[in-house]
Amino acid sequence: MIESVVLWLFLAIILVIVAFTLRKEREEVPRKEILRAVQTTTAGGGGIGLLEKSFLWAFSWMDTRFRIQDYWAMSRDAYYSMHRQMPLTHAAKYKLRIIWYWYPLYCLGGISFLAFIILVITGTILGIYYVPGGMGDPTPAYASMEFIMTQLPFGYIIRSIHHWTTHFMVAAVFLHMCRVYFTGAYRNPRELNWLIGVALMFFTIFFGYSGYLLPWDALAFGAATIGINMANATPLIGPWVATAMFGGSTLTYQAVTRMYFIHVFILPVLVTTLIIVHLFIVWVQGVAEPH
Ligand code: HEM
Repeated sequence: MIESVVLWLFLAIILVIVAFTLRKEREEVPRKEILRAVQTTTAGGGGIGLLEKSFLWAFSWMDTRFRIQDYWAMSRDAYYSMHRQMPLTHAAKYKLRIIWYWYPLYCLGGISFLAFIILVITGTILGIYYVPGGMGDPTPAYASMEFIMTQLPFGYIIRSIHHWTTHFMVAAVFLHMCRVYFTGAYRNPRELNWLIGVALMFFTIFFGYSGYLLPWDALAFGAATIGINMANATPLIGPWVATAMFGGSTLTYQAVTRMYFIHVFILPVLVTTLIIVHLFIVWVQGVAEPH
């Protein structure tokens, strides 16, 4: 009883706030051109559909509050005012022969991006069922992978897509790097984007490695042993690297938790940020096509 009273009270308050806001808008807010246009069109007998009317009304409602039109105009002006034609590539500068047959290779960066999106989606689904525990026999990590593979509906398909898209992405990123190198697109003014690309290549491989350890099966254990030995063998910072990556200088159950954190938190944040900056620079500078 008391719950429904509270609920009705809450709804009444919301209704009063909405009504008050709308009344305020009618009285004070000057930016109502669209709304007026909607009313005029409807009154004139021309009549627009309910869908269009609702959309325009919602747009006008948002615009009076967030000035969408102004920001849209500002970003459009910024887009057109940017100096988007950058210096030519070495292919253009040195009048190299037209290499139009390389054009299909220009989609490799886009393919890498698409692979990353697929990995984020399938990885998120896997993350719902995966348990990052390395202790016990079988370990929770291994048991959860077994569950995903044998019992979860479509689990093995999601895992397979995640697995194969990883291979695909590593190959695409590597070939994209080759394309950039052989078309000389890494040169002035694109040096910074090349360096960001180098970081992306490294993180993509590290993504693959950290994911490889997560099932904590014999393969993962073997790869982790190699990894921790490599880390320990690093001069000066070896033990520190081993601790940061594997939770200690000897291989324990902690490696799974560390790799999980790296795989689902650190790397996604880093790679997403770098990809955004990478693509923003491509947008600003334009693609260095062979001319
Ligand atoms: C996650 C990995 C990566 C993604 C998603 C990505 C995405 C892209 C995209 C969509 C473009 C536009 C042109 C094209 O598609 O070819 C591009 C251009 C470029 N990328 Fe990447 N890239 C990645 C990794 C790399 C790597 C590893 C390098 C080099 C070490 C690199 C260096 C560059 C450079 C220099 C350009 C400008 C090329 C031009 O203007 O012709 N990228 N990238």
